[in-house]
Amino acid sequence: MNRYIVGVSGASGMILAVRMVQALAHLGHHIELVITSGALYTATLELGKEYSTATKWVDSFPEEVKNKIHLNLIQDLGCMIASGTYLVDGMVIIPCSMATVAAISMGLGDNALRRAADVTLKEKRPLVVVPRESPFSEIHLENLWKLAKVGATILPPIPAWYLHPKSLEEVENFIVGKVLDAFRLPHNLFQRWGGN
Ligand SMILES: Cc1cc2nc3c(=O)[nH]c(=O)nc-3n(C[C@H](O)[C@H](O)[C@H](O)COP(=O)(O)O)c2cc1C
Repeated sequence: MNRYIVGVSGASGMILAVRMVQALAHLGHHIELVITSGALYTATLELGKEYSTATKWVDSFPEEVKNKIHLNLIQDLGCMIASGTYLVDGMVIIPCSMATVAAISMGLGDNALRRAADVTLKEKRPLVVVPRESPFSEIHLENLWKLAKVGATILPPIPAWYLHPKSLEEVENFIVGKVLDAFRLPHNLFQRWGGN
């Protein structure tokens, strides 16, 4: 059993965060969940009122998933994931807003998600960033480049058309599966390309 931080920030694509938590839990991993206030607003608009608070997020999962989640409050800079002494195997920010990308690229640890990302980088642990914006400005690209330079994996939520996805769920599973690949975690969320 490994332990992963799942950070959810206010970009579009909240269903990706839900599927990410489910996938890690189903693989038997422990999840340190942290959700920004921007994410709660976006999630309420995209997924409904049952995602309007962090506690409601956790409660929306079935018991077997909920049991694997520890919720960190966004304003709690004294939470466990704010310290490098708390051991985790990696962190994913899914989806990741440009505001959060900018903050992390500047070393600005002013909420629990940003601080956890800063800690993940300084401890040289895997950090996967799933940035969602379109188009990217030069500022966005520069900030993402800074994160890539210090070892973060920049994994944009882009479908693999060559796998002929039949539904949005298949696309979402592909993106979540790519995050699991970045963590080197075996899964069968999508069929791998086997050549022609
Ligand atoms: C419905 C909705 C969709 C949004 N989509 C994006 C997005 O795709 N990318 C982005 O960078 N910001 C997006 N935003 C703006 C962010 O939520 C906003 O910049 C927020 O301050 C991000 O803060 P956070 O990173 O702390 O969550 C969206 C906001 C709303 C309400």
